[in-house]
Amino acid sequence: MKKLGIIGAMQLEVETLLGVMENKTARERAGSTFYEGILEGLPVVVVQCGVGKVNAALCAQILCDCYGVTHLVNTGIAGSLCADLDIGDLVVSRDAMYHDFDCGPFGYEYGKVPGMDTVAFPANETMIQLAFQAAETVNPGHTKIGRVASGDQFVAEKALKEKIIAVTQGLCTEMEGAAIAQTAYRNKLPFVILRAISDKADDSAEMDYPAFERIAAHRCAQVTRSLAKALKEA
Ligand code: ADE
Repeated sequence: MKKLGIIGAMQLEVETLLGVMENKTARERAGSTFYEGILEGLPVVVVQCGVGKVNAALCAQILCDCYGVTHLVNTGIAGSLCADLDIGDLVVSRDAMYHDFDCGPFGYEYGKVPGMDTVAFPANETMIQLAFQAAETVNPGHTKIGRVASGDQFVAEKALKEKIIAVTQGLCTEMEGAAIAQTAYRNKLPFVILRAISDKADDSAEMDYPAFERIAAHRCAQVTRSLAKALKEA
């Protein structure tokens, strides 16, 4: 029996889904509210984890341990790292890595977490394809599949953006995806990250973000809803 854990960092990123869930029950754990219910016929647990990698990882682990989810999805907004990805466009993760993790002095590749056998945690192929198809129905011709670069930084400076592109080759940057990916990897759970672009992660980000965060977050929630439907039927 499939059960999808859905993680968004902010209220804006989960409120659309909470509004359409059926048979909803709520319970607080570690300061976050976990909503169990049905979305598009699929059993789901939705949580607003809060911003950043630690919040994301701990909520993902709670979804594994306390709710027995079989799949994980991270939905939300991101800054674009790619000239072809404009505000409102969508990214489906091929994989995810940290842009702020560096044990280089001990001989580790940039981004590599000691003890992990990969720098970038791979998303599940079936979920990638289902998410891509769902994204294409919501915003045709505006979805890319690629790497998500995560770190505990809101990126709003061209120089930092360029550095992140150089070390990760990511398509977009945000603050939770790779932590959820690592948690999924360690728990051997299929996952995918779904992000809508809210800004260009450069000097324009501070202006664009407030203007577009709502539109982008809502778009991403629409895709997550379609993904839940597709996953139920898969
Ligand atoms: N989420 C949305 N935009 C972002 C940015 N520019 N940096 C980090 N996280 C983001």
